[in-house]
Amino acid sequence: MKTLIIATLLLIFTMSSLLQASPIHIIPQPAYLNEGKGHFLITSSTRIVTDGIDAAKNAFFLNGYLKKYYGFELKIISKQAGIKNSILLHSDKSGIENNGAYSLHIEKDRVEISGDGGAGVFYGIQSLIQLLPFEKTIILAIPQLQIKDTARFAYRGMHLDVSRHFFDVDFIKQYIDLIALYKFNTFHWHLTDDQGWRIEIKKYPGLTATGSKRNGTIMGHYPGKGNDNTEYGGFYTQEQVKEIVAYAADRYITVIPEIELPGHSSAAIAAYPGLSCFPKRTTAIPLNMVSIKSVQDVQQGNTIKLVQETWGVFDDVYCAGKDSTFFFLQDVLDEVMTLFPSKYIHIGGDECPKNNWKQCPLCQRRMKENNLKDEHALQSYFIQRIEKYVNSKGRHIIGWDEILEGGLAPNSTVMSWRGEQGGILAARQMHQVIMAPGGYCYFNRSISKNEDSLTAGGFLPVKKVYQYDPVSDSLNAAQSSYIIGAEGCLWTEYVASNSKVMYMVLPRLSALSEVLWTEKAKKNWNDFELRLLYESKRYEWLGLNFCKKFEVYE
Ligand code: ACM
Ligand code: ZN
Repeated sequence: MKTLIIATLLLIFTMSSLLQASPIHIIPQPAYLNEGKGHFLITSSTRIVTDGIDAAKNAFFLNGYLKKYYGFELKIISKQAGIKNSILLHSDKSGIENNGAYSLHIEKDRVEISGDGGAGVFYGIQSLIQLLPFEKTIILAIPQLQIKDTARFAYRGMHLDVSRHFFDVDFIKQYIDLIALYKFNTFHWHLTDDQGWRIEIKKYPGLTATGSKRNGTIMGHYPGKGNDNTEYGGFYTQEQVKEIVAYAADRYITVIPEIELPGHSSAAIAAYPGLSCFPKRTTAIPLNMVSIKSVQDVQQGNTIKLVQETWGVFDDVYCAGKDSTFFFLQDVLDEVMTLFPSKYIHIGGDECPKNNWKQCPLCQRRMKENNLKDEHALQSYFIQRIEKYVNSKGRHIIGWDEILEGGLAPNSTVMSWRGEQGGILAARQMHQVIMAPGGYCYFNRSISKNEDSLTAGGFLPVKKVYQYDPVSDSLNAAQSSYIIGAEGCLWTEYVASNSKVMYMVLPRLSALSEVLWTEKAKKNWNDFELRLLYESKRYEWLGLNFCKKFEVYE
């Protein structure tokens, strides 16, 4: 035994003189970084020392990472003074304080991560993780340094559409791990849309029994080369949702669910046709796009409404004239708010055609009774009624920028996607804004001019993402304070696999993280470009697909 210990010590001693710590390439760039000389060695005899609130939870996270990628864990002990060969995790408060402020000191014989809250410790651990080698060894050399850091924006989001294509629980966890690595703090989960309802609602089992499945999907770019005639579906049980919310919370990520209304509601209407202005009208799908099964079902009178099999915007939306529509949505939101503790609930609000409302006697009656001058005002009535309900439960709504039309709901936050104009208008009206303009934040657009896989229209190179500033020059200081952050969006019409998700978001997600975290004055494209080369190795080390032949410039 003694010989073994001596041999191990000798090995460590010899290795330590040979070892070189990896270069310092942290994304997003910290506010203050002072490089030291030499390194600290993490070995199986290093201990994690916990001190204060949330420290144990963070210690488990760090150990989980070491186990997964290096095959060993460290012993966790609670605070004792002056312990050498240790990683001290310290925070006085739980949760997020000062936008996740933390300090990370790596010295010759110890590491100390101190967070203003638990989130700060977590971000310090992410920076530490980014210093680890891309090699499975038993001695991990990390460079001596001092970092003092905090986020620029309070809201740092990534979105994923799971309606057009479904992604399972394991993948959602992987996505959450990825966004945690880059210090995002919000996962916007787009759970419902025309092509599939993806969350179990106990009171309305039809939403998943019927609404989570479609009879086929168009092949190729819209309008497509016919239908694949293959049933497609999937949904998350409430137990799975709870598991994901808890998994994200351990990583200081809030999950914001999106329940689309009043548009993008074909899947719900397929399950409950009474939600439509015209329950007996068959869903219109052009013949060259619809599956054989759907045609037969309709012809044989088995089905009136269909879950959509193609992409776009559809006329059949929730009827704004029936109180039963609102009672249904309130029931759904009740279950959603029980599952998701987030301050915000995203209620969609985008792309709601008004054709049905114009023809529907109940919608027209609602307009008359409430002195609503047009259907945009009716949309505003719809959103405000839902907002009142959500507010009555102590929560707030986020809506896409169409919720500005006809008048903003009083406490709403606007997510600006059709450019920045909606966000600018909302900020001037003293509403909180999350910027997600398609030209900078829509990662469903092609990352390369020579892209050979299917993508949505448009081209969004990495440099354009990197150079984005969510705070428009046209806002004064007071108005600017309403811009709480920004979000990268991945719509999945043309994203059917896990590896394609990663291909579309990497490396743009890494670029966006620096937009959201790093002070504007500290951002530097040339420096980022160098770090990005190194980052490709990280993606490989983590086993993540990414776009390799992306163009950085327009
Ligand atoms: C959206 O892209 N329709 C928000
Ligand atoms: Zn109606």
